[in-house]
Amino acid sequence: MASCDDQVFNPPENVSKKAHCSSMEQYKEMHARSIKYPEAFWGDIAKEFYFDQPVPGKFLDYNFDVSKGPVYVKWLEGGRTNICYNCLDKHVLAGKGDQIAFYWEGNDPADTDSVTFSELLSDVCRVGNYLQSHGVNKGDTVAIYMPMIKELVVAMLAVARIGAVHNIVFGGYSSDSLAERMLDSSASVLICADGVWRANKLVHLKEIADEALSLCRQRGLDVRLSLVVQHMARVTHPPSLHDAINGHPAKKTHFDDKLNYKVSWNSSVDVWWEEAVSSASDQCPVVWVDAEDPLFILYTSGSTGKPKGVLHTVGGYMLYSATTFKYSFDYHPGDVYFCTADIGWITGHSYVTYGPLLNGATSVLFEGVPTYPHTGRFWEIIQKYKVSKFYTAPTAIRTLMKFGDDPVKKYDLSSLTVLGTVGEPINPEAWLWYHRVVGGGNAAVVDTFWQTETGGHVITPLPGATPTKPGSACFPFFGISVCLLDESGEEVLGEGEGYLVFRQPWPGMMRTIYKNHQRFQTTYFQKFPGYYCTGDGARRDKDGYIWVTGRIDDMLNVSGHLLSTAQVESALLEVEQVAEAAVVARPHPVKGECLHCFVTLKEGGKFTDALVTDMKNKVRGKIGPFAQPDYLQLAPGLPKTRSGKIMRRVLRKIAVGDRDFGDISTLADPSVVEILFQHRPANA
Ligand code: WT7
Repeated sequence: MASCDDQVFNPPENVSKKAHCSSMEQYKEMHARSIKYPEAFWGDIAKEFYFDQPVPGKFLDYNFDVSKGPVYVKWLEGGRTNICYNCLDKHVLAGKGDQIAFYWEGNDPADTDSVTFSELLSDVCRVGNYLQSHGVNKGDTVAIYMPMIKELVVAMLAVARIGAVHNIVFGGYSSDSLAERMLDSSASVLICADGVWRANKLVHLKEIADEALSLCRQRGLDVRLSLVVQHMARVTHPPSLHDAINGHPAKKTHFDDKLNYKVSWNSSVDVWWEEAVSSASDQCPVVWVDAEDPLFILYTSGSTGKPKGVLHTVGGYMLYSATTFKYSFDYHPGDVYFCTADIGWITGHSYVTYGPLLNGATSVLFEGVPTYPHTGRFWEIIQKYKVSKFYTAPTAIRTLMKFGDDPVKKYDLSSLTVLGTVGEPINPEAWLWYHRVVGGGNAAVVDTFWQTETGGHVITPLPGATPTKPGSACFPFFGISVCLLDESGEEVLGEGEGYLVFRQPWPGMMRTIYKNHQRFQTTYFQKFPGYYCTGDGARRDKDGYIWVTGRIDDMLNVSGHLLSTAQVESALLEVEQVAEAAVVARPHPVKGECLHCFVTLKEGGKFTDALVTDMKNKVRGKIGPFAQPDYLQLAPGLPKTRSGKIMRRVLRKIAVGDRDFGDISTLADPSVVEILFQHRPANA
C-alpha cells in the first residue's frame, strides 16, 4: 500500500495552463468557500442558468439530522426553470444552433450520424407536443427503454421540457425488471425501440417491452401508449446475419425474407415514433417548473432486494451536473467529449446528456461495445473525432488491457487531455495502463467517485489542479464535506479508515426514494444521525487523499453495476428445486467482482448441469444478463448463527479459498464451513 500512497502524478502543464481550476491553492480556496457559504457559492453558479423566476427566499433549506425530525433538502425552492431550456434553447438563442451536440456511432462502424443543437431542439419539441397531446402532463412519469441512439436523448429532454418525469430503464434489463420499475413509478407511457444489435447479439427490445407491459397490466397498471423508434431498419446487420441467412437463429423468428426486422404490433397502444413525430409541430413552449419539482426517477439496487427509485429534482441537479462536468473534465469550448456509459445508468444521465448539454458541449454518443468489431473500437472513435475528454469504467479498461498495447498504438490518441473513470475502485495497474498507454503519459486521469444518489461526482481530482495517486479518488468536489466515521460514530481524524459520510447537502443529491421517504431516511441517515451515509468505506492517507475501499453493506459491484445479494437470492429461490441461497461477491480480474452463489436444494433435488443453467437463466431473466452468476456451488447447508443469520463473511472467505475464517464458534453447525471449503469450485 505504501508504494501506492507515495506515487504521485502532477497535473499536465498544458491542462493546468488554461484550467478552470489550476492549482491546489485555488481548489482549497474554492472548496472552503463552498462549504462555509454554500448559498453564496451555488448562488453565483446559478446566475449562469436561465430562471424564468428567480429564487424568492432561501437558497438552501434542509435537515440532515433524523433525530431532530424528518430529513429534507431543498435548493432554490420557488425559483422556476426548465433543464431542457438550459440544455438547448439557451445555446440556440446564443447563436450556437449549428454546433454539433452529438456525433452518433452505431454498433457497426458504418452507421454514423450527427445532430446539432437546433436539430435536437426541433426533435425535442415535436416529441414534447406529441406527448402533451396524448395526455402527458406536468408530474406524470414516462418510462424509457431504449438503446444508445439520439432518440433516447430526445425522449428524455422532451419529457423534461413538458415538466414530466422520466424513468429510464437500462436496455439490458429484463422484462421483469422493466415492469417492476414501471409499476413502482406508475408510468403509463413507455418509449422504446424495436431492437438493437450489441456486437453480434440482437436484443429484442420491443418484445421485452411487450412482456413488461403485459406484466404491468396483470398487476393493474394500464400502459396506454408505447412509442416505438424504428431503429432496426436503418442499421447495418452484423456479417453473421448475412452470411448465414438461413442459419442465423434470429432470422427465423425475427426477420422476413428480405431481412427486414419484424415486431408484433398492438395498435391500441403501439405507435411508431417516426409517424408520431412527423406530424407534430417543432415549436413547443417550455413548461416552467419549480426548482424542487422532480426531474427523474432512476432505480438503483437496494440491500433489501427491492430497487430504490432515486428521485432527483430539477434545479439542484442542473447546477450540480453542469458544474461537475465543467470542473472534473475541465471542459472548454472546442473539446470533443466521449463518455462510454449507457444513458440507462446515472453516469449517462449526468455525463452523456445533462452535464455536457448544459455546458453546450459536443459529444460522441456510442451505441456499441468496446470490442466490436475489433478491440480497438474506442481508440478508433477517439482518433476519428479527435476526442479530447474520455470517460469510461475500470471494467472496460481491464477488458481492453488484456489485448495489450498494440490495439491502442494503432491509433492517434494525441487529442486526449483528460481520462476519466467511474463505477468502482480502479486498481493501480489499470490506472497506470490507462495513463501510460491510452493517455501516452500526457493526460490527466480523474478517478471520479459518486453514486446514483449523489447526482454527480462527489470525490474526484480536478485535472488541472490535483496531483493524482493511482487508485485514489483524491479530494471532495465543491460542496462536499467528507468525513470518516468509526462504528460508534466517532470521527476518524487524520490518517485512518472508516465509513464514508458527508456532513452537509450539495445541490445534486437525491431528495427522496420515490413513494418511500421512510426508506430514504433509514438507508442514508439512520446509522449516523446528522450525516449522509454513502454505504462505502474509505481510507484517508497521510497526505489527506481519500481511497474508497468499496461497499460495506450487502451490495455487489459487477462491472460497475450495483446488485444486492438479496435481489439475486430471491431470483434463485424462484427455481423450483432451490431451498436456500446465499450470494457473495468474489474478485474477478475484469468485472471487478462477480457472483458466487451457494445453494441448498430441496429433498430429492439434483445439482445437474441443467439445474445450473436454469439458475443462471433465472437470474438473467429476473434481473438482466449482466447479473449472471459466475459460480454456483451446491451447499449441503449454510453457515448460520444460532439465530439463523447467514454469516456472509465466512462465505466470502470460502469463495476466494482463504481459510482465515475468523471466529466461527457462534455458528450453529461449524462443520459445514469445512465441507463448503473442500467443495468450492475452482473455475466458472
Ligand atoms: C457505487 C455507486 C456513479 C456512477 C456509477 C455507479 C462504487 C462508483 C467509484 C469510484 C470507487 C466507486 C461505490 C458507489 N463506485 N465510482 N470511482 N471508486 N468506487 O453508480 O450504481 O449508484 O453505484 O459504485 O461503491 O457507492 P451506482
